[in-house]
Amino acid sequence: MSAVLTPTPSSAISLTRYLIEEQRAGRINADLRLLIEVVARACKSISIAVGKGALGGVLGDAGTGNIQGEAQKKLDVLSNEILLEANAWGGHLAGLASEEMDTSHPIPDVYPRGNYLLLFDPLDGSSNIDVNISVGTIFSVLRAPDGVSRAEDKDFLQAGTEQVCAGYTTYGPSTMLVLTIGHGTHAFTLDREVGSFVLTTRDMRIPDDTKEFAVNMSNQRHWQPPMQRYVADLLAGQEGPRGKDFNMRWVASMVADVHRILTRGGIFSYPLDAKCADKGGKLRLMYEANPMAMLVEQAGGAASTGRQRMLEVQPTGLHQRVPVFLGSKHEVETAVRYHHEFDAEQP
Ligand code: AHG
Ligand code: MN
Ligand code: MN
Repeated sequence: MSAVLTPTPSSAISLTRYLIEEQRAGRINADLRLLIEVVARACKSISIAVGKGALGGVLGDAGTGNIQGEAQKKLDVLSNEILLEANAWGGHLAGLASEEMDTSHPIPDVYPRGNYLLLFDPLDGSSNIDVNISVGTIFSVLRAPDGVSRAEDKDFLQAGTEQVCAGYTTYGPSTMLVLTIGHGTHAFTLDREVGSFVLTTRDMRIPDDTKEFAVNMSNQRHWQPPMQRYVADLLAGQEGPRGKDFNMRWVASMVADVHRILTRGGIFSYPLDAKCADKGGKLRLMYEANPMAMLVEQAGGAASTGRQRMLEVQPTGLHQRVPVFLGSKHEVETAVRYHHEFDAEQP
């Protein structure tokens, strides 16, 4: 009988080796390699904290709120601190921005500065922390504008097409880092005993077609007409205009929902609804939608606001929100078509 547990083979490609090979190929420089290594190390620390759960005293509310009026969990605050501390002293950044901080965070004067800007959602899916369901970290990397070594908020306001790197870590049954530097989307699994991320899927591909959608159906009555029509047609199944049955999943951790879609296809949607219309949507462009859009496009999928390619949205604020449709290419195109058809009918 074969062994149940197979140790990581010595031929396995670690994240460190992958990055060194990308640097040798001229696709990243030493600073970006360091940045990714530092983020990955911080995510390992967050993974350990998440994994301890109640034993680590990290569950529950922090008793504070962020600029978006959301109550912070202890793990939101802790994860933010871990990422800030890890990235302060390496000399690779001109500034940081986070869901949990009102404005961008300068690099302390005692440390050297670099050319990159790092944005992150330190703990995505906070509502799932206390119920032991997968959460994650999302990050996006931009270049500082020429001549800027001490970045201010306005320096971060670049379209998603300008991202040089994007990724997330999912803290699920296994901890995985999914990464793109603009040459495909690759998945690394944390070998907990060794303490390193190991390349487990090179070039993730999202199937063009799908029979699975992800949306919070409890918002249905608040949606706009094109979304109402789109989901009604999905639900009508084989007898409806789409001619096939669809399955539904909603984890309420964007990282976990997007990870499923990168693995087996699907469409993820957080549309505009009457509750969030005044804010422009629920999810944040710069550290949720844009990095996920880059990862999804690099895996052959598509990402849109319903009316515009996500990566081409010109940001106007660090915490700007957008409607989100992403995943299997043909399905995202179908959702976008419903929006265009609706708009074309308006006087
Ligand atoms: P965060 O925990 O970083 O605030 O993000 C939560 C987001 C996202 O992860 C998820 O897809 C969505 O909020 C869930 O929203 P609902 O609770 O409205 O379903
Ligand atoms: Mn989030
Ligand atoms: Mn968050």
